[in-house]
Amino acid sequence: MLVTTGAEAVENAIKIARAYTGRSGVVAFSGAFHGRTLLGMALTGKVMPYKKNFGPFPAEVFHAPFPNPYLGVSTDEAVAGLEWLFAADVDPQRIAAFIVEPVQGEGGFNVAPKEFLVRLREIADRHGIVLIADEVQAGMARTGKMFGFEHAGVKPDLVTMAKGLAGGFPLSAVTGRAEIMNAAHPGGLGGTYAGNPLAVAAANAVLDVIEEERLCERAAEIGRRINDRLTSIAARQGMERIGDVRGPGAMVAFELVEDRVSKAAAPAITTRIVAEAEARGLILLSCGTRLNVIRLLAPLTIEWEVLEEGLDILEASIEAAFSDTASAAA
Ligand SMILES: Cc1ncc(COP(=O)(O)O)c(C=O)c1O
Repeated sequence: MLVTTGAEAVENAIKIARAYTGRSGVVAFSGAFHGRTLLGMALTGKVMPYKKNFGPFPAEVFHAPFPNPYLGVSTDEAVAGLEWLFAADVDPQRIAAFIVEPVQGEGGFNVAPKEFLVRLREIADRHGIVLIADEVQAGMARTGKMFGFEHAGVKPDLVTMAKGLAGGFPLSAVTGRAEIMNAAHPGGLGGTYAGNPLAVAAANAVLDVIEEERLCERAAEIGRRINDRLTSIAARQGMERIGDVRGPGAMVAFELVEDRVSKAAAPAITTRIVAEAEARGLILLSCGTRLNVIRLLAPLTIEWEVLEEGLDILEASIEAAFSDTASAAA
């Protein structure tokens, strides 16, 4: 099914899962981002800046913990949180869908451990719940595979995609098993601009380029280069506020902390690095539920020299931001 925005794909995936199961509940995860429509925000597990002041949100949306090995939330604890939700809040037989990002985007490039996705699949199967992978940010070759869930070898029932799908043209999609996709009645799903021809032509061209220019492999190489640079910066003396470098393929981020023991979030230094980079001509986007992560989303077709230039600017911006705060502290 073709629609226009990522949020619209998410909304339609939920409608399809509800029509198929005849159930109403949906479970999303802490730190998730699923869009800025009311249902998208209800599913989102990050208050600032998305949810504050915009409620009330649609009912029947529940949140379970997403694993975060860096901050000490293991897969076992996350799964226990889900089981607790079923014991304390909602009967699993009322749940139509789980919706999960294989790599959380806005939440801070938190990678779902393989074991977590495998266990979600098992729990979904046990209770007849539709598993939706939201690949709006992680999909379309970004992580070094066409879709993020492929790293875990798990097959979702429905997949949402957008962003890279049409190279920036407004197009999004829901794909899935025919039996589930066909559950909605004729005329129940659609939209004026759904599948508009220009965006579909752009998507066809994008899919050709992903294949012909082997962008999955290229994403992996881009990621290696970014990772190498970031880990070597982080290893230098004075760089202890870089607490973590993570992310598969060309979906790499680094987390800024006050120190590596407390791991207390450092949102002010994060904003500072973004501003320093902007002044030097490099656009960076921060993310993270604690507002202290900087994500790097270079185009998968980026020239190597441009990537190196960007990394040089990034390094200079980090150095400038850290030396400013060091002298302010002194
Ligand atoms: C995982 C995920 N889902 C949904 C969305 C919403 O997409 P859109 O902004 O196109 O509505 C986003 C956007 O960042 C996203 O990252």
